[in-house]
Amino acid sequence: MTEWLNGQNPHHLQRAGALLKAGKLVAVPTETVYGLAADATNPQAVSNIFAAKGRPSNHPLITHVSSIEQVWQWASNVPPWAERLLNAFWPGPLTLLLEKQSQVSDVITGGLPTIGLRMPAHPLLLKLMQDFELTLAAPSANPYQKLSPTTADQVMAGMGGKISGILDGGPCAVGLESTILLARMDSATILRRGPITAKALEEHLPFKVQSPEMHSYEVSGNKKVHYRPNAKVFIKTTEAILDFLDRPKPGVGCLVYSPMRLKQYHQFLTLPADPIKYRRAFYASLHELDTRDFLEIWVEQPPLGSEWEDIWDRLSRAAVNLG
Ligand code: TXA
Ligand code: MG
Repeated sequence: MTEWLNGQNPHHLQRAGALLKAGKLVAVPTETVYGLAADATNPQAVSNIFAAKGRPSNHPLITHVSSIEQVWQWASNVPPWAERLLNAFWPGPLTLLLEKQSQVSDVITGGLPTIGLRMPAHPLLLKLMQDFELTLAAPSANPYQKLSPTTADQVMAGMGGKISGILDGGPCAVGLESTILLARMDSATILRRGPITAKALEEHLPFKVQSPEMHSYEVSGNKKVHYRPNAKVFIKTTEAILDFLDRPKPGVGCLVYSPMRLKQYHQFLTLPADPIKYRRAFYASLHELDTRDFLEIWVEQPPLGSEWEDIWDRLSRAAVNLG
């Protein structure tokens, strides 16, 4: 049984804290996507996350803190430049990979010498962590290799029965996973693109940020097959979608953002053309189309440009073609 906990209800928030303190798994809202949380100081609780998700145990987890000062409890030799990013972007969708303190459990880091740290910007989650003095290890709250959830309903659909509770904090404001930045003493490398771009980071740094297309670091989110709905996803040109409007095929759902005169409404979902609003609704729209049991989902190829980089990244991992 998975308890549904309403974040607006103080008793439910208490219950979420009590469950986590008792070593149980509770899905929690963040501004990016919902996380599947366990008390980061309890290795047994953390190891249960892997079983619930069906995720290989060598995949490291992000540790969520509720203040900037806590970074030094979990990480050592923090590069001075990294502090500027913490001050500029926390709380927010930026995860820093730092050298871990020796006492941090290998269960969290997958045996790596680094730890991923993030202070999330969801007021409810921050209150929960602060009131209960909790630091939370949490991957996205989806079964392994499936789409990340941006609502509590999606978490229930994917993880219901496998976890103790879901704290409903409403739809996620950002909608896509955090930017992951490897912070070395004299270099910064983006390992997973996200809402905070290299350009935005560089405004606070005296050097360039690396953002390689491919890299060999252990970032499961960097696996080619990832973030996949059940239907096959294809990236299509606007022309191909317009053509589809004239000659619709059964079993195909479309996700578009260009203005067009729609006819087969149940086969279409429209996203805003603004990248912030598009990002917010992107996963939720794929989830929604997936519940309509289409065999294929055609996604109109988004615009180019740095504000769309992370969306392109997730879309190309979800798709079976490359636009
Ligand atoms: O926005 C987010 O980052 C969300 C919310 C819940 O905070 N979390 C999230 O977690 O997306 P997850 O586990 O689905 O993706 C985190 C990625 C994984 O690909 C993992 O391999 C990588 O971060 N990661 C975590 N710690 C790492 C480390 N020490 N070294 C290399 N990669 C690490
Ligand atoms: Mg994930």
